[in-house]
Amino acid sequence: MNTLSASRAEAPAAAAERGGRVLVWDAPVRVFHWLMVLGFAGAFLTAESERWRLLHVTLGYTVAGLVVFRLLWGLVGTRHARFADFVRGPVAAWRYLGSLLRGRPEPHAGHNPAGALAIVALLALAALVTATGLANYHELAGDWAEELHEGAAMLMLALVGVHLAGVLIGSLAHRENLVRAMFTGLRRGRPQDAIASARVPVAVALLTAVLALWAWQWQTAPQAGALDAGPAAVERHGHDGGQDDD
Ligand code: HEM
Ligand code: HEM
Repeated sequence: MNTLSASRAEAPAAAAERGGRVLVWDAPVRVFHWLMVLGFAGAFLTAESERWRLLHVTLGYTVAGLVVFRLLWGLVGTRHARFADFVRGPVAAWRYLGSLLRGRPEPHAGHNPAGALAIVALLALAALVTATGLANYHELAGDWAEELHEGAAMLMLALVGVHLAGVLIGSLAHRENLVRAMFTGLRRGRPQDAIASARVPVAVALLTAVLALWAWQWQTAPQAGALDAGPAAVERHGHDGGQDDD
């Protein structure tokens, strides 16, 4: 590389150090992420009671659909959304963690290799939780599916804790608010790290599909028998707080 091209390459890096932000997370990744948070948290909170079963199942289906979407988007999405861009082996994750411990964290425009491992594990567990939930709900499997469903959900909760700790540590180490980046799509980076388009129409289509699923589930609720305890149950729900029916 000659001096001119070297200085050209350094200029954007210097700009980045001055706080230049570039678009790294496209809109589908961001919408996917926050729907995933809503779906997982909602499914977890509604897991125990029969009364909330339809909501639980609906949010569970949402998570299942989101996983399928993310797998596809990981193949055809924008640069930093692609698995080929950020999924590295354990060696790279180890090296990254070492760089964190030494106080000189390796820069990564997209996900870091350690975070990537957690992300892949979260997606795999979400697939397992929803598949076993489905098998349970449609009585396609025995008691083992029920046990596995609950166990995998607990494991996923633990991994979400690890994920959150990783996000916090990453934010402190890189002195960058990574949570805000998951909302805005913008991260500190070089111009050449930027993606060209936020792909908003894909995000709108994803959100529309999720809202359509919810509307459809809502409409078919009485036939599904999920509210078969009837209005009396709704009435009771407001008063008793006890008499759990799970
Ligand atoms: C990320 C999504 C999900 C999470 C976090 C989750 C979590 C849980 C947990 C923790 C339980 C155990 C509740 C208890 O008895 O203490 C449970 C039960 C159950 N879940 Fe899910 N679930 C999810 C998705 C699904 C899906 C997609 C379905 C079906 C389509 C489903 C159907 C059920 C059913 C039928 C039970 C009751 C099993 C029984 O008879 O005890 N879940 N879920
Ligand atoms: C509740 C369950 C959660 C699940 C299942 C989950 C899952 C994921 C997944 C799959 C990704 C990869 C995004 C992609 O490339 O598509 C991700 C990234 C991320 N998540 Fe979560 N997440 C959860 C909760 C949260 C919460 C509550 C926060 C913030 C307070 C958060 C902050 C982030 C951030 C900042 C990233 C990007 C990390 C980076 O810069 O590499 N997540 N999460």
